[in-house]
Amino acid sequence: MQEMKLKGEKIAMLTAYDFSFATLLDEAGIEVILVGDSASNVMAGHKTTLPITLNEMIYHASSVCRGVDRALVVVDLPFGTYQGNSKEALNSAIRIMKESAADAVKMEGGREVLESVDRILSAGIPIMGHLGLTPQSIHKFGTYVVRATEQKEADKLVEDAHLLERAGVFAIVLEKIPAKLGAQVAKELKIPIIGIGAGGQVDGQVLVLHDMLGITTKFSPRFLRRYHNLSEEIKGSVSTYISDIKSLDFPNEREQY
Ligand code: KIV
Repeated sequence: MQEMKLKGEKIAMLTAYDFSFATLLDEAGIEVILVGDSASNVMAGHKTTLPITLNEMIYHASSVCRGVDRALVVVDLPFGTYQGNSKEALNSAIRIMKESAADAVKMEGGREVLESVDRILSAGIPIMGHLGLTPQSIHKFGTYVVRATEQKEADKLVEDAHLLERAGVFAIVLEKIPAKLGAQVAKELKIPIIGIGAGGQVDGQVLVLHDMLGITTKFSPRFLRRYHNLSEEIKGSVSTYISDIKSLDFPNEREQY
């Protein structure tokens, strides 16, 4: 990723939560797979990312890692497993690395989580940071609107990004912030900056797989480009299957023993 930033080559990252999709993403050439805690929303149907547990994240991460030969796999540390207690943070990160075979962990926040960042890094575990809209703090923000539009919050974000870089994180995700601010951070920092709703002048992009494939349909932020309308295709295939069974078309002569 560092070499790509130096060469000016953009980094492509997507989420995945299971073996089958991870295999497809890896074969298609994705560079980074994020086992995001968005699994809490798109896999488990929760309203926020808060309820997903460490065990559940490890289950998703190990499924993904079994499907990946070459992409870098990064796993979200879930809410409540690293905030406020650096020893617990280290134990959580170690469990992810030991039990899933992932390459790195991701954690949300800046100065507030610095002690945990230091402790995890000192154990030799690479960290990707996450600033801007940090969904694990949704109850503090109260809304999913664009972050850091006010100067004070933008200044704190830039300061946090520098702190994380100095601490030794290898990349940072910036979520839902003004494009100008994304460009500033990508320019000031040496490590790669991956955006989701952070404009085109960062070093790479990430989207949630189920959103970009159109499996989920209700979530439509401006930054989301839908590459497919899989929800309609899947529903169409399932209703054809149902009618084939009802009309005795399936199975036919060649589809039985
Ligand atoms: O959990 C997730 O999918 C994420 C991305 C939105 C960056 O953190």
